[in-house]
Parts: sequence; C-alpha cells; structure tokens
Amino acid sequence: MTTAQSLTRKKRMDLPAALLTGATTVLRPIAAEDLPVLQRWDDDPEISALMGQKYLEVNIRDWFHSLPTDRTCRAWAITNQGGRLIGELELAQLNWRNGTVELRICIGEKDCWNHGYGTDAVRIAVRLAFEGLGLRAVYLRVFVANRRAIHVYRRIGFRAEAMLQPSRRRNDPSPVLLMNLTQERWHRLQAQSAS
Ligand SMILES: CC(C)(COP(=O)(O)OP(=O)(O)OC[C@H]1O[C@@H](n2cnc3c(N)ncnc32)[C@H](O)[C@@H]1OP(=O)(O)O)[C@@H](O)C(=O)NCCC(=O)NCCS
Repeated sequence: MTTAQSLTRKKRMDLPAALLTGATTVLRPIAAEDLPVLQRWDDDPEISALMGQKYLEVNIRDWFHSLPTDRTCRAWAITNQGGRLIGELELAQLNWRNGTVELRICIGEKDCWNHGYGTDAVRIAVRLAFEGLGLRAVYLRVFVANRRAIHVYRRIGFRAEAMLQPSRRRNDPSPVLLMNLTQERWHRLQAQSAS
C-alpha cells in the first residue's frame, strides 16, 4: 500500500500547522471575507495575462462553497508572517490513484512580487503534497513568457517536460510549459542541500 493510500480521508483533511508554515509565508484556509480580494486579483489584466481568468468560467462563491467537499482540490490563502493576505495557492486535479496534483499559485499583491514569497509558498505546497498528502508528483502549467514564475519553479526543482500549444479558446498569449517535480527528485534535492 502506498503512503497516499494509507492516509485516511480525515488525515488528508487535517494537515499539521507546521506543514503550512514556511520561512516567510503561511498557508491558511480561504475565508469568505477573502473573496473580494481574490476576485480583484482575477480581474487584474496584468495577472490574468499571466494565468488566465478563473472566475469567468466559475462563480467565485460557488467555487468557495464547493471547497470543503471537493476531494480533487485544496486551496489556501497565502499570508506573510504578519498575516497580510498576499496570494492564493491551489493543489488541484488531485488524483489519489496516480498520486499526482497540479499546482497553481498567484501572489496577487504586486508590491509583494520578487520578495521571495512565491518561492517560499511553492516550497510549502510541494512539501505538503509529498509529506502531508503522500503524493508522487506535482506538475504545473506556465506560459513560456512568464520568466519569473519559471525561474521560481526551476529553483525548487521542477523540470520542463513538454511544450503545449496555446489554446485559442482561452486566448493563451504564448505556448504553455508543462513542468513536473517527482517526490523522488525532491527528496534527492533536499538531501543534497542538507549535505
Ligand atoms: C510567479 C510568482 C508566483 C513568483 O512569486 P514571487 O514572490 O514574485 O517570486 P520570488 O520573489 O520568490 O522569486 C522571483 C525570482 O524571479 C526572478 N525574476 C523576476 N523577474 C524575472 C524575469 N523577467 N526573468 C527571470 N527571472 C526573473 C527574481 O529575480 C527572483 O529570483 P532571485 O530570487 O534569484 O533573484 C508571483 O510573481 C506571481 O504570482 N505572479 C503573478 C501570477 C503568476 O504569474 N502566477 C504563476 C502562474 S504559472
């Protein structure tokens, strides 16, 4: 039986606070009061050019209310250590059988870009996926033009696996890079950085 299979549903829901805390950021549950802020980020043209507009297709309140029962998606607010809401992070398309999940991150407060928060939050999410949820691999999709995001993902250990053509339906601005990080590689990188 794999680690993922051995975790009970309850354990999957109750992640220890230590796993949700990084060096400069904290992941906490999204609250109803956060939704106007998440909507503002989604409506921001500079941000939507980098990651599309999620709440065009799905109503933000419906999405929020579906979270507690959605076994395929976990979402958190990202705060700095002072508790300021600065972003949102999702582990979506959770596939327990294959042990895979898709990462999606947005540091929505632009004055917080390039301060290390994104790197820290992605690190927390990867650790959560592997140590908390017992998954096998984390993947993500990023526009090739999003050099900052790619720099962050590579630094953490993600590797480019494929280049996807832009979707005309979503009006993608550039091809999409599919990146992947396996648990095995992540553990190897952790061991290397500790030695
Ligand atoms: C992408 C994102 C998560 C990164 O988070 P962040 O907190 O800004 O990133 P960090 O500060 O941790 O790291 C940024 C790194 O990129 C580098 N960088 C910035 N602009 C860059 C560019 N144009 N090309 C290459 N590297 C760049 C910075 O120098 C920094 O690297 P360094 O620490 O080695 O100096 C965040 O900027 C964000 O959410 N942006 C808007 C939405 C988005 O793009 N989401 C990702 C969709 S896949």
